Amino acid sequence: MKKIITDLAVKGQKVLMRVDFNVPMKDGKITDENRIIQALPSIKYVLENGGKAIVFSHLGKVKTEEDLAKRDISPVAIRLAEVLGKPVKFINATRGIELETAINEMKEGEVVMFQNTRYEDLVEKKESKNDSELGKYWASLGDLFVNDAFGTAHRAHASNVGIAENIGEGKTAAGFLMEKEIKFIGGVVSNPDRPLIAILGGAKVSDKIGVIENLLDKADKVLVGGAMMFTFLKAQGKNIGNSLVEDDKIELAKELLLKGKGKLILPIDTVIVKEFNNDAEYSTVSVDAIPDGVMGLDVGIGTVELFSKEILGAKTVIWNGPMGVFEMSNFAKGTIGVCEAIANLTGATTIIGGGDSAAAAIQLGYADKFTHISTGGGASLEYLEGKSLPGVESISNKN
Ligand code: 3PG
Repeated sequence: MKKIITDLAVKGQKVLMRVDFNVPMKDGKITDENRIIQALPSIKYVLENGGKAIVFSHLGKVKTEEDLAKRDISPVAIRLAEVLGKPVKFINATRGIELETAINEMKEGEVVMFQNTRYEDLVEKKESKNDSELGKYWASLGDLFVNDAFGTAHRAHASNVGIAENIGEGKTAAGFLMEKEIKFIGGVVSNPDRPLIAILGGAKVSDKIGVIENLLDKADKVLVGGAMMFTFLKAQGKNIGNSLVEDDKIELAKELLLKGKGKLILPIDTVIVKEFNNDAEYSTVSVDAIPDGVMGLDVGIGTVELFSKEILGAKTVIWNGPMGVFEMSNFAKGTIGVCEAIANLTGATTIIGGGDSAAAAIQLGYADKFTHISTGGGASLEYLEGKSLPGVESISNKN
C-alpha cells in the first residue's frame, strides 16, 4: 500500500507537488483542462490544511531554443489560479535564487508554480534522464513530496522519481488523483469485479499489443474495434479493401486470435467509403463482404448491438480507443454507441483508459457517466499491460 496525501502532516510544510499539466494547447490556449481539474483536490487539500503548495509539471518536450517559448507553462498557471480561486505565483525558472526566495517567503495556504520541468532538458537531458543532482536540488526546495502526476508515472524523471529518491524516507505520498488511478486502472489488472469486459480500439495493433495480450489473460471478454480491427480481419483471411492495415502485424494478430479464441470478439460490420472524407457517400456492410476499393472508417450498427450485449451484465468495463474516426460525424456512431452502452450500465465500475476515448467521452458529454476517466495516456496503457510504473513505485509505502 502506498502512502497517500492524507498520511502526510502538511501543516506549515513546503509541499512539492508534481502534477501532470501536460495539457493540449493551441496558440497558447488550453484545449482540454481535464488534467488541471483532476489535480485540484490534492492542491486544495494541501492549502486547506495549512500547507504551502509548490506545483510543477512538464509540458511537451523541450529540445531547442524555440521550444522554450512553445512550451512555456505559464498559461497553465493562469488557468490554475482561475479554477482554484486563489493567486498562483508563477516563477519563470526551474531553479535559482528567484525560485528559492519565492518558496522561502511562502505563507501557509499559498501556491507557487514554477516553469516547465523540461526546460532542464535543453542543453542536456537532466529532467528526462533523472539527473541525480537535479532530483536532489528539487527535493531540497521542499519538506514533503506529493506525486499526483499519474500521466507521467511511466517515466522515471527527476521531477517524480528523482525527488522521491532524495526527499527522505516516508516523505513521498500519492495525491488523490494518483490514488484514484492506482485504484481503478491498477484495479482492472489486479483485482477486478467480474465479468471484466475490455473494449479496445484505435488505429494500430502495434500500439496495443501489450494491452491486448495482458487483457486477454485478465478479462472475460475483449472487444476489438477501431482501425486495428482490419489487421485482425485480414489475419482471418477476409477482404478488407483499402482499409488501414499493418501487414507486418498479421502473424501477431493470428496468434492473438488463437490465444483469444472465445474471448476476443471482432466487429461483424463496418461503415465503408471510397475516400477518407466526412462528405463521402457511405454504407454499412458485413465484414465478410467488404468490396475492393473502399475503406472502413467505423464499426457498423450491428457491431454496436453485439458489443452492447456483451457489455450488459459486466461488473467492470475498461475502454481504451475509439471504434472509428469519431472526429468525423459520419464515422462517430460506433464510438458514440459503445460510449452510450457503457455509460448506461448500472452497478458496474466503468473506466476509460485515457487518450482518445477519454477525449471522445468528454466531447460527447458523457464524462459524468463513468466511474473514472484516466488522465494517463502512455501511463494507462503501460499499467494495463501489467507493467509497474516507476512514478508509482517510487512513492513511499505505508508503515
Ligand atoms: C502524457 O501526456 O502521456 C504524459 O504527460 C507524458 O508525456 P511524455 O510522453 O511527453 O513523457
